[in-house]
Amino acid sequence: MEDREREIMLDLVRVTETAALMAGRYMGMGNKELVDAAAVDGMRGMLELVRITGTVVIGEGEKDKAPMLYVGEKLGNGKGETEVDIAVDPVEGTRLVANGLPNALSIIVVAARGAILPVPSFYMHKIAVGPKAKGHIDINAPVRENLRVVAAALGRKGRDLTVVILDRPRHRQLIEEVRQTGARIKLISDGDVAGAIATCLEETGVDMLMGIGGAPEAVLSAAAIKCLGGEIQTKLWLPDDEQRKRATEAGFTEENRVFTAEDLVRGDGIIFAATGITDGELLQGVRYYGNLATTNSIVMRMRTGTVRQIKTYHDLTRKTLRSMKMGREVEV
Ligand code: FBP
Repeated sequence: MEDREREIMLDLVRVTETAALMAGRYMGMGNKELVDAAAVDGMRGMLELVRITGTVVIGEGEKDKAPMLYVGEKLGNGKGETEVDIAVDPVEGTRLVANGLPNALSIIVVAARGAILPVPSFYMHKIAVGPKAKGHIDINAPVRENLRVVAAALGRKGRDLTVVILDRPRHRQLIEEVRQTGARIKLISDGDVAGAIATCLEETGVDMLMGIGGAPEAVLSAAAIKCLGGEIQTKLWLPDDEQRKRATEAGFTEENRVFTAEDLVRGDGIIFAATGITDGELLQGVRYYGNLATTNSIVMRMRTGTVRQIKTYHDLTRKTLRSMKMGREVEV
């Protein structure tokens, strides 16, 4: 994997760029299924060309429910002797794209074979911070205490902190507890991966992410946060017997186990790539200008800590995209 990492980084950006270019066309149309289908089609088509032998560990769902990018699907052009795990979210924030709201991303993570924890679509409690507060948080500690130690680590007052929380009824108490400390809150309607990554990038003004979101999204967040030197801790959220039964069947028997970033994505052989679909703090979204489209992406490599931001100009008079569904190249 080590040698191949450098070679495939740009290939992976091309994968998320393609998904974003395809999905971006459906921004604001109010149909999240269309958004997702377009991104999946583009991402799957492009992955055919990447020189890896990959297995989808986190994808669009079970084989019988998802025709492409399903868990267990083998991807890559097969010529790569390198066996890797793949985690994808062709559109992280399908509703965001459907409604033209900020911070939707197309994401892929590639890691050494066996490195990615195969979490089914459960929910997880999450707490994430950037590098300066790493080593200070504890998902089992009271909310107030976590805010206190993070403020101290950042050398700030509690009221100077900004916490990202998904705007959901299940977070009523969390929101109340954060408010009581005087910290500022940024409620987001979707997209907690972007929220988690934002904690590691000072210019976003975000210091912490707290609350319950998707478990697959926790894995994607962990990959990015590891590359950026921050910290994420997670725990399964199993609100009813049905969920507990599913978790046990999937081999997750310890309800209170804390999963660190290292538990979610092991080791150094990790590449994270994402392209903005709609505009956000992290990345500008796709823009279409007649014969030209632009995309903005980030690609990070854990082993070296290199973080690249890539703005790409796509000449639409010459460029076509690979549609898996159509079995041919299509216009952007
Ligand atoms: P989708 O792109 O699959 O719609 O997920 C968006 C998202 O907001 C995630 O960022 C988050 O982890 C999860 O959904 C929260 O789930 P729910 O909307 O069920 O609360």
